[in-house]
Amino acid sequence: MAEHFAKQGKEYADSRPSYPPQLFQFIASKTPSHDLAWDVATGTGQAAKSLSTLYKNVIATDASEKQLEFATKLPNVRYQHTPSTMSMTELEQMVSPQGTIDLVTIAQALHWLDLSTFYKQVNWVLKKPNGVLAIWCYTSPRVNDAVGALHDKLYSFDAKPYWDSRRELLEDNYRNIDFPFDPVERG
Ligand SMILES: C[S@@+](CC[C@H](N)C(=O)[O-])C[C@H]1O[C@@H](n2cnc3c(N)ncnc32)[C@H](O)[C@@H]1O
Repeated sequence: MAEHFAKQGKEYADSRPSYPPQLFQFIASKTPSHDLAWDVATGTGQAAKSLSTLYKNVIATDASEKQLEFATKLPNVRYQHTPSTMSMTELEQMVSPQGTIDLVTIAQALHWLDLSTFYKQVNWVLKKPNGVLAIWCYTSPRVNDAVGALHDKLYSFDAKPYWDSRRELLEDNYRNIDFPFDPVERG
């Protein structure tokens, strides 16, 4: 579904929210080594930029060349255009060999991928033991009741027919996704 994101790479780079540093510090505290992170569906590099401060190297991939064009360029981040459906051979060639990655992140994009293919690839590239997969998303901002009522009308009613049905996983905050990995301790 990368074509949804092709036209507005510059607007993404200018206005997409970033994520709090505490999120990355927490995730990084779960990987014993900090050599290599892979940010999947990186967009214009919102998560990759933060990961670059905590990992020696970051590979940031996306199926939209336009998004990558506007991504923040950093010396230890390699941006890589990947096909929407990546084969295992392409994974090895474009991303990294088997068992070499400390951390895989996917921010606000899991719903666009085929989960079973993605999980197989994550399982293959992650270091064993101790490799970590971190998935997160966000939905609508809450300001106050008055703003909420206006926003909900626009977002959930007027615009609803135009949203891609795959976003339903997101609207549910990924609560019901398959997650065939061992959870990490929160503390
Ligand atoms: C909502 S944006 C999220 C961007 C960024 N990770 C963030 O947190 O803001 C979703 C991204 O997923 C990418 N995407 C969609 N389908 C993809 C696929 N099959 N493989 C790789 N990237 C994909 C889009 O091009 C887009 O950049």
